[in-house]
Amino acid sequence: MDETRHVEEIADSVYWVGARDWDRKTFDAFIPLPQGTTYNAYLVKGREHTALIDTVNPGFWKQLHEKVDKVDSLKNLRYLVMNHAEPDHASAVPYVMGESPDATLVTTAKGAKMAKLYSKVPDGRILVVKDGDAIDLGGKTLAFIEAPWLHWPETMFTYLPEDRVLFSCDYFGAHTAFGMYDDENEGLLSLAKRYYGEIMMPFGKPGQKALEKIEPLDIRVLAPSHGPVYRNPGKIVDEYRRWTAGETKEKAIVAFVSMWGTTDRMAKAMAEALANDGIEVCVFNLQGADVGDIARELVDARALVLGSPTVLGGLHPLAAYAASLVKVLRPPLKYAAFLGSYGWGGGAARQALELLGPLRIDVVGAVDINGPADGEAMGKVADLARALSAKIKGATGATARTAESIA
Ligand SMILES: Cc1cc2nc3c(=O)[nH]c(=O)nc-3n(C[C@H](O)[C@H](O)[C@H](O)COP(=O)(O)O)c2cc1C
Ligand SMILES: [Fe+2]
Ligand SMILES: [Fe+2]
Repeated sequence: MDETRHVEEIADSVYWVGARDWDRKTFDAFIPLPQGTTYNAYLVKGREHTALIDTVNPGFWKQLHEKVDKVDSLKNLRYLVMNHAEPDHASAVPYVMGESPDATLVTTAKGAKMAKLYSKVPDGRILVVKDGDAIDLGGKTLAFIEAPWLHWPETMFTYLPEDRVLFSCDYFGAHTAFGMYDDENEGLLSLAKRYYGEIMMPFGKPGQKALEKIEPLDIRVLAPSHGPVYRNPGKIVDEYRRWTAGETKEKAIVAFVSMWGTTDRMAKAMAEALANDGIEVCVFNLQGADVGDIARELVDARALVLGSPTVLGGLHPLAAYAASLVKVLRPPLKYAAFLGSYGWGGGAARQALELLGPLRIDVVGAVDINGPADGEAMGKVADLARALSAKIKGATGATARTAESIA
C-alpha cells in the first residue's frame, strides 16, 4: 500500500480514485498531450453498497486498487459502472471484477457486448441498464442516462441526484493532468476545446441530444473521465451548447506547407489580408503544427485556407493529412480556399478539391501558381482574400476567382 496516494472527496461520500498520467505524450497515437492526462474513476459510497464508476488506463490498475482501499475495500465492491468501454476507462474491468467477487458490471446493452468481447465478463455478472434505470446504494442513487456516440456507440452518463453529480465520462473531458478542479487550471477552457475538437466534434448531433437530456438536472458537480472536476459547470456546458450547435466565428484557419517558400508567401499574404479585414486568423505551418491546436481552432472557425505545393502530382503529404483530418473531424466550416504552387503539371489544387468538395463546404476559390509568385499572382491572392473575407462576414454577391487548373 502506498500511503501517498491522493484520494479526493469531490462530493459527500464520492471519491476521486483515478490516476494522473503526467508523462503521456500522445493520445490515439497522434494527438499531442501538452499536459499529460488523467483517467478519472470515482467511488460512490452509499449506506449499503459501494459503486465504482469507470476504471483506468493500462498501467494504473494497482494505483486504482490502492486508492479504493483507502476509502473502502475493493473486495466489497457491489457495482462497477462502465460508462464507456474504451481501454483508458475500462482496461481494469477484468482486474476489478476479479478482485471483487460480489461486483456486478453495470452498462448499456451495447456496453455489455463490448464487456464480453474485450473484458470477458460473463453474462451473469452484467446488469444492462437503459434511460431511466437507477440503482440504490442506500441514500445514494445512481441513475443512468444513455448518451450514445460520446464517444463510442455504447457510452452513457451516470447521475447521482442526491448530490447532483454527473459522471459524464469522455464528454466534457480535457486532456490535462493539472488541477483537481476546474478553477485550478487556468488554461482549462482551451484544453477542453481542443479535446472537444479531437474527440467530440464528429458527434455534434448526439452531443446536442445528450445536452437536452441533462438540461433539467441542475448539475452541481460535473465529473468527466479526463481532466479536472468542474465545481462550476455552467461555463463548460454553455460552451458545449455553442460547439455542438456548430456556431462559427468570423475566423479563418490558414494551414499551409511549403518546400521553397512560394506557398508560404501566399499563405501569409492571405492571413495578413484577412486580419486587415478584422477577421480572426490562425496560421498553422503544417510542418510541425500541433494537430490538437488545429482541432481546437476548427471547433468554431468559419473558413479554412489550405496551402500546398504540388508534390508528385498531388498535395504535399502534410496538406493531404490536414485535409483528411478536416474530413473525419467534421468541423462546422462554411468556406474554404486553396493556395498553391507547382513546377510543371500541378495536381495539388485538384486533389484539395476532391477532398474538400464533398464536405458541404463552399470552396470560394483557388490560386495555383506556376513557379514563384510574382506581383500578378499576389494580386490574385489579394482578390481571393477579399472574396473570402466577404463570405466570412456574410456579405452577399461576393465573387470568387478560381485558378485555371481547377476551372
Ligand atoms: C519533392 C518534390 C516533388 C514535386 N512534384 C511536383 C509535381 O509532381 N508536379 C509539379 O507540377 N511540381 C512538382 N514539384 C515542384 C513544386 O511544386 C514547385 O517547386 C513549387 O513551386 C514549390 O512550392 P513551394 O515554394 O511552396 O514549396 C515538386 C517539387 C518537389 C521538391
Ligand atoms: Fe473514449
Ligand atoms: Fe477517454
